[in-house]
Amino acid sequence: MHILESYSVNCKPSGTVAEDVATFLPTIVSYIERQEPVRMVLPAFPFKSPNAHDKALGALPDLAEELALYHLNGLCQNIGRVYEPGAEVHITSDGLVYNDLMGVLDETVWEYGETLRKMAVERKLRHVRFIRLAELLDHHPCSSRDPESAKAFYLAHAPCLRRELMIRFGDPSFSPDTAIKTDMDVCLTYRGYIKFLTKDLAQKVASKSKRARAEEIAQTARSMIVRGQMFAAAIRAQRGDYVRLSIHESAKGRKLSVPLIPQKPGSIGHTPWHSCVAVGVDGSYRATHVDQVRDTHDLVYKDGQPYYYRERSELFDWAADGIEVEFEPLYPCGLIIRPAGGASQPPSIRSIPMRKIRQLSCHMSPVVCRGFADTGTEDMFVDKAAELGKVAAWSQDIIVKVRDSGRQDKKNNNVKSNEAMPMHFDGMFRFEHKVDPKTGETVRVQNIPRYQFFTCRATAPEDDGYTLFANSRLFFRHLPLPWSAERLQQATWSMENDGFWDAKVYNLPLVIAHPVSGLPCLRWHQPWGAQQTKFSTCDVTIHNANAGLIPQIDDLTYDYRVCKRFAWHVGDVLVSDNISMLHTRTAYTSDCDRELWRIHCD
Ligand SMILES: [Fe+2]
Repeated sequence: MHILESYSVNCKPSGTVAEDVATFLPTIVSYIERQEPVRMVLPAFPFKSPNAHDKALGALPDLAEELALYHLNGLCQNIGRVYEPGAEVHITSDGLVYNDLMGVLDETVWEYGETLRKMAVERKLRHVRFIRLAELLDHHPCSSRDPESAKAFYLAHAPCLRRELMIRFGDPSFSPDTAIKTDMDVCLTYRGYIKFLTKDLAQKVASKSKRARAEEIAQTARSMIVRGQMFAAAIRAQRGDYVRLSIHESAKGRKLSVPLIPQKPGSIGHTPWHSCVAVGVDGSYRATHVDQVRDTHDLVYKDGQPYYYRERSELFDWAADGIEVEFEPLYPCGLIIRPAGGASQPPSIRSIPMRKIRQLSCHMSPVVCRGFADTGTEDMFVDKAAELGKVAAWSQDIIVKVRDSGRQDKKNNNVKSNEAMPMHFDGMFRFEHKVDPKTGETVRVQNIPRYQFFTCRATAPEDDGYTLFANSRLFFRHLPLPWSAERLQQATWSMENDGFWDAKVYNLPLVIAHPVSGLPCLRWHQPWGAQQTKFSTCDVTIHNANAGLIPQIDDLTYDYRVCKRFAWHVGDVLVSDNISMLHTRTAYTSDCDRELWRIHCD
């Protein structure tokens, strides 16, 4: 219930959201009793706004939809962390319900929906499912696997399905004008429609008088309200036992209002199909309109299609360094950089401008260069580390080769095992001696390396051996009340560790300011008991905050909105800012060859 609540728009007075979520308690209890996945239904993803000039980038899904699908899949994965059968979000497109009102072709709705499905499959977003309008009306959708036949079948039946929806689920006594006046949910949806139609239909009604324009927009919105009621009735009839999600605000607790692209707290924000995504150098993903970013951002294409806008910065301009690359933002954080298509030979890692990587990793870690040559050349790897920063060697070996040593004794370092590890930052036990300027005393302080620099020599089998990166900016964004960065800044913690490290560290700050961005960064090592490891255990005590903070931190650092589960490819070169990020690893199959090389840099 807390997970669902944390995904809701949360814009109501304190307590109201919990009440909204509580409406679904009986539904969820019945799933738990049957030990079935919690099923949710979301009427959404109709088609892109017809206003491709000022609002959206085109007719096909882009980064906005991609982020939304990851977000919904992550909701299910977060539920799966606490409830073994997990959860599913069933998207039922309302495209055919409204498209004729706005002059959008059935074929456009089909292409949008099919691309969305392909996106979910390609990105392995297995908890996102789709329900066709035909299924809601008890018909079997076309079973043909041939895409052309399936499309022809869809186009042939779309007008009939629309008519059938109206005949079967239309309520002749329903008056949109009365409902807008008396039902707060309908009123909120109507206002939302007016807002987006004003821009969507701008070109269509341009030649009309101001009054005629307003009337046409209001009439279209009223028609959409009527159709929406029919569609909602069909969903209730066919999927009434699902948790009902909505992209519209709701005042009554009949549906849970969920922003699809994370917004400022309290805002449902733009939907993916009415917006484009602006990626900031600060790592932010913002749903906005094209006309808001056209002059400050660069349009980025993917496979020849406009995909997102990216803040203009020399950090993304590698042509000056003699190399053309493409940037792929990851959810919830991270960036993959690939040589631009068409290169006959993969470029060497020698050509990677490490100064730019260093700056990008400050906000966009993990930054991954994929598809470059010479990643297995030790000298070259060390040279690139030296360009990234001052190499911080732990021992005589500059490169630490992280692989399963096969050793099972307590004194083995768990880094060189196949076990899952606790969430942590590197350098917990790296110390230096400094003179305290106030007392003149020499004190031992942590000397945390700034960057982790990796290359992957061999991977674990698929779906195994992930490295997890938790982002402090996202951690504090999703930290629930009553906790806050300010409160956590008051806390300190200590850690006692046995086995390989056998060390005790006291009076550690829980939050430090990032040396470049100044943003709060979480400094944390997850408690790790004897039941979790054959190797070092780790006791953590927290001070100046109640003990409830420990499970809160341990939960949120693994939350799919905060933590990137990164699957390695052989030859990946990765930089992670060891101050703004925490990291860990999932367990992997013991006899696999997974091997990473790592260098720390300051
Ligand atoms: Fe580590």
